[in-house]
Amino acid sequence: MSGEPEIARLKACGVVPVVVIDEAEVAVPLARALLAGGIDVIEVTLRRPAALAALERIAREVPEILSVAGTVVTPLQVAEVKRVGAQAVVSPGFSEAVDEAMRAAGLPWLPGVATASDCMRAVSAGRVTCKFFPAEQAGGTPVLKALSGPFPQLKFCPTGGVSLANLADYLALPQVICVGGSWLVPADAVAKRDWARVTQLAREARDAVKAIRG
Ligand code: 3PG
Repeated sequence: MSGEPEIARLKACGVVPVVVIDEAEVAVPLARALLAGGIDVIEVTLRRPAALAALERIAREVPEILSVAGTVVTPLQVAEVKRVGAQAVVSPGFSEAVDEAMRAAGLPWLPGVATASDCMRAVSAGRVTCKFFPAEQAGGTPVLKALSGPFPQLKFCPTGGVSLANLADYLALPQVICVGGSWLVPADAVAKRDWARVTQLAREARDAVKAIRG
């Protein structure tokens, strides 16, 4: 399966900031603020029209950060995020159509799973690394541990309700490569261009990962 270097970078970072960008011009200072705090991965969700332009700017102007496209739910979006230079793709769920498009795109893909049936579809498609979404709402670490019984080959990035308060519980599990969350980039900090706060939140998250992993 392609994408091993990108998956290794997600794992090394340990935390994936999930961001919503309303104005493409914040993308570059935001990515730089995360880097300054020691986080070299950013997931820009396709929830706003500015997302593609934001990904394009990050890929062009901040190549040191791994640019990940999130909330990719259609084959057309796969083509679009590839065109703007996204290096990996995350989806909230699994679909055969997106799986096929991702194969054609040749980028690493983390499909979302929350149930045993989702995991069966991912495994049938040869997928190894999945987003566990919505992590807390789907049952948190007990459900993740239960899913790893029948699916020991799957690795996960739990996202949804993850924060500094519970990230250690997830990262302590061997099947968890990293966690994702929006807490690192609060909407009000972006609105105020408060990059120092984003850097501070990134640093706290990075320190928390280091404390757990040594
Ligand atoms: C996602 O898309 O991964 C989630 O919306 C992020 O969840 P959070 O806002 O609870 O961190």
